[in-house]
Amino acid sequence: MRTHYCGQVTEQHLDSTVSLCGWVHRRRDHGGVIFIDLRDRDGLVQVVFDPDNPDVFALAESVRSEFVLHVSGRVRRRPAGTENAGMKTGQIEVFGQQLEILNTAKTPPFQLDDEDVGEDVRLRHRYVDLRRPEMQERMRTRARVTTALRGFLDAEGFLDIETPMLTRATPEGARDYLVPSRVHPGSFYALPQSPQLFKQLLMMSGMDRYYQVVRCFRDEDLRADRQPEFTQLDIETSFMDEEGIMSLMERMIRELFREVLGEEIPNPFPRMSWQEAVDRFGIDRPDLRIPLELVDVSELMADVDFKVFAGPAADPKGRVAALRLPAGGDLSRKEIDDYTKFVGRYGAKGLAYIKVNEPAQGREGLQSPIIKFLPDATVSGILERTGAEAGDLIFFGADKTTVVNESLGALRVRLGHDRGLVEAGWRPLWVVDFPMFEYDDKDGRLYSLHHPFTAPSVDSIEALRQGDPERILSRAYDMVLNGTEVGGGSIRIHRPDMQMAVLKMLGIGEQEAREKFGFLLDALEYGAPPHGGLAFGLDRLVMLMTGAGSIRDVMAFPKTQTASCLLTEAPSTVAEEQLRELHIRLRRTATVETEPATQ
Ligand code: AMO
Ligand code: AMP
Repeated sequence: MRTHYCGQVTEQHLDSTVSLCGWVHRRRDHGGVIFIDLRDRDGLVQVVFDPDNPDVFALAESVRSEFVLHVSGRVRRRPAGTENAGMKTGQIEVFGQQLEILNTAKTPPFQLDDEDVGEDVRLRHRYVDLRRPEMQERMRTRARVTTALRGFLDAEGFLDIETPMLTRATPEGARDYLVPSRVHPGSFYALPQSPQLFKQLLMMSGMDRYYQVVRCFRDEDLRADRQPEFTQLDIETSFMDEEGIMSLMERMIRELFREVLGEEIPNPFPRMSWQEAVDRFGIDRPDLRIPLELVDVSELMADVDFKVFAGPAADPKGRVAALRLPAGGDLSRKEIDDYTKFVGRYGAKGLAYIKVNEPAQGREGLQSPIIKFLPDATVSGILERTGAEAGDLIFFGADKTTVVNESLGALRVRLGHDRGLVEAGWRPLWVVDFPMFEYDDKDGRLYSLHHPFTAPSVDSIEALRQGDPERILSRAYDMVLNGTEVGGGSIRIHRPDMQMAVLKMLGIGEQEAREKFGFLLDALEYGAPPHGGLAFGLDRLVMLMTGAGSIRDVMAFPKTQTASCLLTEAPSTVAEEQLRELHIRLRRTATVETEPATQ
């Protein structure tokens, strides 16, 4: 039907006849001449119709926004003064000689170039939203990202192998989406939270290097960078250690950014232990573009006459930390109150501060609601440790360590953005030396920080059992980029006795372990090679690379924060008959024989 994409017609086609297909982006009537900006996935071109050709002109008069057209015409130079330097096709226009309306369109629910359209409207009419050049560009980048990643992995000898979608639960810390079985009433498949166990089995099958661009399903609370179904680039290798895997993956990401964006990422990626990350940034995925840090001041506060500080300072599970905001002395009372409310969302009970007006004048030069509680030595210790200078402001958090870290960690990021402190560029980081377990006070048990198949840094089960579980490190690594966890993985346990010992520490006894992971424990007995890998969140990676504000903007058909699809209105109720059948499937006591044969 067409000879060119709209966005490709340029001066080099002057005087030739082109045939174009696309949507009416805009139609303008200019004193007897009709201008149509015709749009396809490659861009816009201006088509002009004049009344000398009355039939075509009449048809052109009838078209409206988003009609689908087939146009043929001659390419000519735009009259002097009407060129558009901002447009690739801005030097030319197509003089329309033939016009066919391939389809009409209702008035669109929103103007494509309207910046203020609510996300709900966009999602409900996603097919229109995806026509926007910005969305087209994001989808294109996404496709280029997957192609580049596949190209790299194929060249490195990785095999693309598919794993089941109807499977058994894989523990990745979220709830499962369940699918009731028709043939086995009362039994369920789980949709995979990740292909974790299958990729390990593939290593035991001798595949050596595996990858898959794979959909994962997690029924968890959603955020800007979390969706109930999302895509991983999932990778596993045999006979490689952390160093080998991390350096290969770094190289892949560097080449990806070079190929798709033409941008360089630091080489090598810096590494930081999990402990250092949470101590300095309050979070295990620090955004290194923000030049603010938490400073521990616990022992300066041990004896102060202010319980709010002295309590957490003396508590082994507590922390008092300071966060210096350079030139923050100009913050108003109201701004400080707003930040106090902000940290409250993370459980902080207050947000003490010191305005450092003139540090040379000692405490006279400071302004703070808590200064009266702090002895001179403490005050000078704070100024020294934080490196405070005249005009700065120092915030304080005092509470359980987790509360201080989460609240000041979030405040650090917020201040970075509010105060324009975020530096340009790509700041990758490997976070390593994660604790193997974390203890949950509420449940009174240990959980895996990563997942139960991650190897501990200790080789012997004895050391594992004897050690303080919360101090044992794992062989996990996360890749963080500009404050987003883009990927994570680990060296796995490849010996059945170690796997069993770890499951036991997680409170999973022999019987439960056999029930849930019997197939894995068996496979480990038949010659499992040392193996490890990781998975990237493809949506998050593309979000960063396109500068999108959420992963929804880089997914063609995402779900809302409440896990619904506004376009198809999923999830939905089902027909009475289906519901009845479902009840039968759910009933554990029902048997296949009692059901009418349906197939
Ligand atoms: P993990 O659970 O860390 O590891 O997931 C890997 C990466 O997937 C992305 N991700 C998500 N993206 C969007 N929405 C979500 N709900 C979501 N959850 C996770 C993140 C994350 O870094 N099997 C292990 C990997 C391994 O050990 O090899 C796993 O799934 O970017
Ligand atoms: P108060 O004694 O409640 O008037 O608090 C005095 C100052 O300490 C105020 O600026 C509070 O915001 C702050 N504050 C109270 N609790 C905490 C806390 N847990 N961490 C940090 N600052 C706090």
